[in-house]
Amino acid sequence: MAYYVTTPIYYVNAEPHLGHAYTTIAADVLARHMRQRGEEVFFLTGTDEHGEPVTQVAEREGITPRELGDRNYVRFKELAGALGVTNDFFIRTTDPEHHEVVRRVVQRIHDNGHVYAGTYEGWYCPRCADFKTDSELVDGSRCPIHLIELEREHEDNWFFRLSAFQEPLERLYAERPDFVTPQIRFNEARSFIEQGLHDLSLSRARLKWGVPVPWDETQVIYVWIDALINYYSALSYAREGEDLTERFWPADVHLIGKDILKFHAVIWPAMLMAAGIEVPRRVAIHGHLLMGEHKMSKSLGNVIDPFQVVDLYGADALRYYAMREVRFGQDGGVSPEGFEARYTSDLANEYGNLASRTLAMIVRYREGVVPEGELPSELVETFDGLAGEVRSFLDATDPSGALEEIWQRVRRLNGFVQEEQPWKLAKDASQHERLDSVLCGLAEGLRVVSLLLWPFVPTAAERLLDALRVQDRSFGAARFGAGSGGATLGELGQLFPRVEPPTASAA
Ligand code: ME8
Ligand code: MG
Repeated sequence: MAYYVTTPIYYVNAEPHLGHAYTTIAADVLARHMRQRGEEVFFLTGTDEHGEPVTQVAEREGITPRELGDRNYVRFKELAGALGVTNDFFIRTTDPEHHEVVRRVVQRIHDNGHVYAGTYEGWYCPRCADFKTDSELVDGSRCPIHLIELEREHEDNWFFRLSAFQEPLERLYAERPDFVTPQIRFNEARSFIEQGLHDLSLSRARLKWGVPVPWDETQVIYVWIDALINYYSALSYAREGEDLTERFWPADVHLIGKDILKFHAVIWPAMLMAAGIEVPRRVAIHGHLLMGEHKMSKSLGNVIDPFQVVDLYGADALRYYAMREVRFGQDGGVSPEGFEARYTSDLANEYGNLASRTLAMIVRYREGVVPEGELPSELVETFDGLAGEVRSFLDATDPSGALEEIWQRVRRLNGFVQEEQPWKLAKDASQHERLDSVLCGLAEGLRVVSLLLWPFVPTAAERLLDALRVQDRSFGAARFGAGSGGATLGELGQLFPRVEPPTASAA
């Protein structure tokens, strides 16, 4: 089965921060998990390089928007690399192939009768690249997100008849209760639609940086229309000499933050309907990473630098922290202290220690060969149904839920060591069989949790699976009891070594 997952394409007007890493990590977890299930996956991420958000910063820096994009897109690409992300393609909206598809899709929307010439008058936030209604403004004239003073704009534009799609959208929401997840966001989008939709300016006359409107080259296509089409355009040229559209469209899931819900849950499906293209299967929406009470954002400058964390602790640590600390779908606070606490207590003390202790005991008591004992019934019970639960959580786009389920078993295995005290069993000749059973149960538990943790912490999981000599790394193999004893263990070393946190002056 084909599976297509996307992240938003990020604006190149600033450096990536942990918020961008968050969505990309979640998408990578899904992509890896689906590949592990044997599905044919296409995973897309990239950068949004047109529009005011980019031109304004370029102007301020005295360079062209293209120069800004060329400089900054690299950082997002490097971020994906640093995080161990397995995207199949990296799209830039400056790609000429993307332009071609944007023009074709917009022309189709036009030819299908959903475009008209009109005059726009209203409040416009260049940072959001979005129009604001009077009721949204704060202090009468400020953007509710960026708090900057907005100006009233007046422009002759081409308009997309979004209002005509109110009913089709209402039908979509009635027929597909999982079109948007979680439920709270589904309700939010639906009520936005039910309140009545205004037509949307599809082009900008004042701006030169963008994709020209096919039938009116004096205007460029509105940056959001251009950007949304990336999900569709990429498939046509991502693989040299091949068009993947047939195989992968409609997308299985677009992952986004709640800040851009309206664009993905309302405007995007309407655009696709207008162009006669199938709508995606799901838009999965997560909350915001907060620093204190505020959304982590480049405009506020309160960011955690993912490169720095990865340099010190490795990609796995950041991936784990992101998926664990902020429940997918909800807002949640992050902090360097919180990160260090998770690193030490969860990764080093729970997973890392469990692994090194278990392997050390097998070396000490069984000369490094995993015994072939009877699996302890307590553990059989503990692991019963786990893979199915993980699968359900991930099918429901809830990576945090899946991780929580797996981690309960990591904790249970640690508890089992405490209860059984293998070092005592080892001193008692009559307990030889029980010790075999305990050690082989622990090795088997480690095998299963590591297979399931692989999408989250791929490097650590692979190291441990290597040491356990596990061949079959598929999702199907993640069943307690499917493994076998008899392997001679390899070297492991420390999965999550102690790290000296940077001093305040170095940070
Ligand atoms: O909106 N918490 O780009 P953008 C969680 N180019 N996620 C966060 C976050 C935070 N504090 N900050 C950013 C754009 N994100 C458009 C998208 S798509 C066709 C065009 C993540 O650079 C989250 O995924 O502002 C959010 O939706 C996205 O970055 C916004 O990135
Ligand atoms: Mg933004």
